[in-house]
Amino acid sequence: MLVTLHLEETKQQAKRLEQCLDRMGEGSSTLKDAGGKIIAMGQSISGIFAGDEVMKGSLASYTFEHMEIASYKMLIAAAGEIGDAGVQRACEENLREEEAMADWLESRLGTVTSEFLRRDERDADSAK
Ligand SMILES: [Fe+2]
Repeated sequence: MLVTLHLEETKQQAKRLEQCLDRMGEGSSTLKDAGGKIIAMGQSISGIFAGDEVMKGSLASYTFEHMEIASYKMLIAAAGEIGDAGVQRACEENLREEEAMADWLESRLGTVTSEFLRRDERDADSAK
């Protein structure tokens, strides 16, 4: 499942960013904390995909990916301003993965909604 793959990608992204900070000679503990939080959020969001929380999960995931996309675009611009090509490349790589995940989620929104509504109808019928 792409969600599981993206969780792995997120861990790699955190490492990529840690390496950037290490190169810049700054402690990466803050980024490690942030990376840990992002991974935890990703895990909790992927857990939401089960059961009848699928609609909220899809909405939260799609929103979260776009927050990440905006963050990477800002970081790429900032790295460009200070002329740090390494940070720019790392953030561009992360950005591509985030955009791929957001595209995949977007492509599933209609199907997920239809499936949820059909299941909801079936549950209501069987409760009669
Ligand atoms: Fe993501």
